[in-house]
Order: sequence, then C-alpha cells, then structure tokens
Amino acid sequence: MQAVNTSLTRLLGIRVPVVSAAMAFASSAQLAVEVTRAGGFGFVGAAFATPDSLREDLAFARASFPDLGDKPLPIGFGFIGWLLDANEEQSKQLIDIALEANVQALWLAFGVDLHRWLEYIRTSPANARATHKPLIFLQATSLHEALVAVNEWKVDVIIAQGNEAAGHGGAAAPSTMVVLSELLAALPVESAPPVLAAGGISNGSQVAAYLTAGAAGAVLGTRFALTTESPYPDYNKAAIQRAKSADTVRTHALDWVWNIYSWPEGINGRGIRTKIVDDIDAGVPHEVVRERYAKAAETNDPDYMVTWCSQGVSLMNEIKAAKEVVRELHADIVRALQRGQQLLA
Ligand SMILES: Cc1cc2nc3c(=O)[nH]c(=O)nc-3n(C[C@H](O)[C@H](O)[C@H](O)COP(=O)(O)O)c2cc1C
Repeated sequence: MQAVNTSLTRLLGIRVPVVSAAMAFASSAQLAVEVTRAGGFGFVGAAFATPDSLREDLAFARASFPDLGDKPLPIGFGFIGWLLDANEEQSKQLIDIALEANVQALWLAFGVDLHRWLEYIRTSPANARATHKPLIFLQATSLHEALVAVNEWKVDVIIAQGNEAAGHGGAAAPSTMVVLSELLAALPVESAPPVLAAGGISNGSQVAAYLTAGAAGAVLGTRFALTTESPYPDYNKAAIQRAKSADTVRTHALDWVWNIYSWPEGINGRGIRTKIVDDIDAGVPHEVVRERYAKAAETNDPDYMVTWCSQGVSLMNEIKAAKEVVRELHADIVRALQRGQQLLA
C-alpha cells in the first residue's frame, strides 16, 4: 500500500490520513480496531460509556493488537464535554481507565469548559503512571474555538468540523472547506498542530481535496456508521442508505424528542428530516411529539425515526466492512492526488 505522507500519518504512525469519528451509538471498539488495522485511525464513541463497558472495550482492543509491547494502544476514545460535566466522579474514573490503558488518543468535543477536562487528563495521577501520554484531538465548530484550543490549550490535533457534519455541531458553522481554510489561514504554518477536515465527507476524492487545501487528514463519521462493524442499528443504516443530501437538516428537534436540552448554546444536530422535525417546527408540544415517537419506535416507523447522519449521504449507499471502506478511501485518495498532479503537466 502506497502511504500518503502527512503530519497526521507521521504523528500517529498510520498510512492513510483517515480517522473514523468518535460516534456515540455508532463507533464501537470493533470498528475502531478495524479502521486502525486497515491503515487509518479509529475512535470509539465513549460519550455514554460506563467504567465496565470501557474496560470491556479496552480489553477487546488490547487483545486485537497482541504484539504491541509498550507501544500505545492504537485507537482513541471520544468524550463529550457536557456529559463529562454531568457526572464528574464517573467521568474522572473513565478518563483514568483510558489513561491507564495507554490509549494513543482522546477526543473532546461540545463542552462549555473543555479546558477543565484537558487539564484533568494532563494532571491526573493516572497520566503520570501511563507510559504514553494520549494525544488530544479537539473537535472545533468555529474559528474562535479552534484558535483557543491551539494557542492556549496546546491541543495535539484540531478537527475542523463544518456545517455538513452528522450529529452535533455548530448551528451556524460554515461549510467544512470554509472552516478549514479560515483556520489554516489563521494558524502559523510552522508550529500549528495537524488540522483535520470533518463534515459530510463521503469518499477519497473529497479527502484529497481537503489534503490539497492544507488539511493533514480527514475525519469521517457517517461513512463508518455504514459498516458491518458499526453498532448503529440496522434501521438507522437502512435510513442512511435511502437518504439523499437534501433529506438532512440541522435541528434541535431530534434532541428534544429524546428529552435532551443540555447541549451547549449554539450546538444543534444534523440528521434525517422526519415528522419529528415537522411537528416541532409546527409548534406541536414536545411531550406530544415524544408520545408519537415512542409509539412509532415500536415498529421502527421511519416517519418518526432519529437518524443522525451527514449531508454526504447521497454518495453512501452500501454497507461494507470497515477495512474495505479504508481501502477504497486510500485508493481514491491516491488516484485523486495523482490526477491533480497531471493537471500541472
Ligand atoms: C451517530 C453519530 C454519533 C455521533 N457521536 C458523536 C460523539 O459522541 N462525539 C462527537 O464529538 N461527535 C459525534 N458525532 C459527530 C461526528 O463526530 C461528526 O459528525 C464528524 O465530524 C464527521 O462526521 P460525518 O462524516 O458524518 O459528517 C456523531 C455522529 C453520528 C452520526
């Protein structure tokens, strides 16, 4: 396999500058392991993990890489700031468990005080005991957030997430290309950490476009939710297969129907527009929408379903093994970069 050489691939020791997103409900240890084995880098969505489930994931991952020696465990775990805040004691325990397992990276997103958790990671006695200090990936949805994370918090990798992205993100975030370009223009070329593009990416040609624009790699979420290893429920996978880009919407409705009102200001979520969104937009009381949703859930009725996914869905129709997705992305990236070079001849 021809390696694609970027600052991300060097930092992580991988060959393909592709990261599978930390996705609650959709990225398991099995998925993350397969992505890393295939040459990319995989994250587990640990936002709703318990100490027991996290230990199970770590044991599975450790057994999947039997020859690691004292190298870090080559997958990452992603946490959500406001959920960490909601159960401080357990959150510290979760972070300590991950640190003690020498995970290669931790991913933080969506908190009013993410710096506090970054400091906890850096100063916890578990970090002092760990033989590897995890790289900190921070998912940013605005230029301001990203600059603070780079200049003040000194994070190791920035994920520049645009409006096309699946699940939660900036309600007013610009497109992925705009947020990436703004950030690259604002950062010093020499000392900036790798910046990854995230949001709506479906294939390797798009990754190549972001690489040539200056990204060190790309984060893909929905594409990896549509894999055999992803635990995303089959009805959600089927909904993604059917959906077209215009079917998705950024909204609060899909959180409110779950009775969740705790996302930080300015953050909403992208998913498939169903009658849940229509009802909320029409002013139907939230409890009534919740009742309709609960009833519809008994039959997995797609009209009232919650399916988080990106605007890139039109180009994602097949459920494949994760290693096949990474292989295709890699071949497509190489092809697109070679094609780009020919334009100069
Ligand atoms: C089902 C699902 C769950 C997600 N959970 C998380 C999460 O736990 N933490 C997070 O930072 N982002 C989460 N996201 C957002 C993705 O990390 C984000 O959309 C990523 O930047 C790019 O995904 P995309 O390629 O689907 O646009 C989730 C997305 C989906 C589809």
